[in-house]
Amino acid sequence: MTRTPPLLEVNALKKHFPLRGGLLGGVTGQVYAVDGVTFSIAKGETLSLVGESGCGKSTVGKAILRLIDPTDGEVWLDGARIDNLPASQLRPLRRRIQVVFQDPFSSLNPRMRVRDIIAEPLRNFGLADGGEVDDRVATLMDTVRLPRDAMRRFPHEFSGGQRQRIGIARALAPGADLIICDEAVSALDVSVKAQIVNLLSDLQDELGLALLFISHDLAIVEHLTHRVAVMYLGKIVEIAERRTLFANPRHPYTRALLSAVPVPDPTARRDRIILTGDVPSPISPPPGCRFHTRCPYVFDRCRTEEPLLREVGEGQKAACHLDELPALRMLPQAA
Ligand SMILES: Nc1ncnc2c1ncn2[C@@H]1O[C@H](COP(=O)(O)OP(=O)(O)OP(=O)(O)O)[C@@H](O)[C@H]1O
Ligand SMILES: [Mg+2]
Repeated sequence: MTRTPPLLEVNALKKHFPLRGGLLGGVTGQVYAVDGVTFSIAKGETLSLVGESGCGKSTVGKAILRLIDPTDGEVWLDGARIDNLPASQLRPLRRRIQVVFQDPFSSLNPRMRVRDIIAEPLRNFGLADGGEVDDRVATLMDTVRLPRDAMRRFPHEFSGGQRQRIGIARALAPGADLIICDEAVSALDVSVKAQIVNLLSDLQDELGLALLFISHDLAIVEHLTHRVAVMYLGKIVEIAERRTLFANPRHPYTRALLSAVPVPDPTARRDRIILTGDVPSPISPPPGCRFHTRCPYVFDRCRTEEPLLREVGEGQKAACHLDELPALRMLPQAA
């Protein structure tokens, strides 16, 4: 029996940006923004990509969307390789993978009415014309729970949350099967954030959409995602089912991120782990484990040998030497 390929497969993806400088403006180094990232997303599944600012999340998204060309690795969509497609063959990809960015103000043309903003991809991909366009736009307004009369208005007449609904309608218009949400709710107020997360979750059920949900905030993904991948300095350090990751995080970095997530039960609490030191520069990442300069459990091996991402439980992978030394894993957090 042949295995059905996942909707999206990202395999050992790398993106290194050349660093220019000096008198002649030559290449003086590399920014190792994404440095060997592997994951897959099934049809209708949400994978969240989380980690601190600068760890390479948006770069992963942009490489999948082919807004930038990867340095190395492969990206497959429905069993077909897409990372090396020539520019002339990107059209079908643009229809199937859509993106919603953080700032709906900069991604929605302020001079266009909402109707035209949403109709644009329908026309570009030849999916509707004439009277059909208005019908399709009206249906999309219903889908994202916006009143139909909003079609005649301009983006500045809407609140942040409503503008994000317009951005989602535009992403849905061409019938995409994967939507990359890059910090799509990060700029919104808490209550609006929850509404948009609920909308995305409903749409996923209704339309069988797959989502790559990029966020620096682990708390926001808890109610939305099926799986979580945690990134640190260009690499995935842990990937697991949501419940497993929240209940039994294995990587010290995941534990530190999770310790900052509030727990709904006021009598319960998580021990707060404050990470010391800054995130090192992706221009010269630390040798061995990239997290070793901030890890409360660091030992000799971490400084020289890079831990590989390996199976540590059912559907859970982590890249940490402690996992090979269970006795050490039990140690309380170092002071
Ligand atoms: N075009 C570029 N040229 C050079 N360096 C870049 C470029 N784009 C991103 N970088 C660098 O690559 C690293 C990863 O950036 P990226 O935007 O992917 O991080 P991020 O995880 O999305 O961060 P944030 O949470 O702040 O959005 C950063 O160090 C960034 O400065
Ligand atoms: Mg980003």
